[in-house]
Amino acid sequence: MTTEAVPKPSITPYKHYVLMCTGPRCGQEGAGQALYDSLWTKLKAAGIHEGPERTKFNSVSCFGACKGGPVMCVQPQGIWYYNVTPTNLDRIIAEHLVGDQAVQELVFHQGPQDG
Ligand code: FES
Repeated sequence: MTTEAVPKPSITPYKHYVLMCTGPRCGQEGAGQALYDSLWTKLKAAGIHEGPERTKFNSVSCFGACKGGPVMCVQPQGIWYYNVTPTNLDRIIAEHLVGDQAVQELVFHQGPQDG
């Protein structure tokens, strides 16, 4: 099949992209899934579910960083958070996704520039 025959996908513009681990090994089983399930409501409450400030989000089954979780990554900054409890997720949304300041005490890696 030629490239011309393949429909080109499109994505609604976004400011941040959250990837949340819902796997069983980085945190208590089900914790990541519960956080992921709460994201839409939390992002909507923060007013960053649509428009130019929109946060896109998806779940990931494992990042290969399986301890201290649940873990999540915020793109495009490549900031990786651990110990993402519901309270810490609220902080990350308010301070990082809305306020553009990473919650440094919850960051365990930033990349790819760190290696
Ligand atoms: S199960 Fe979450 S990083 Fe592996």
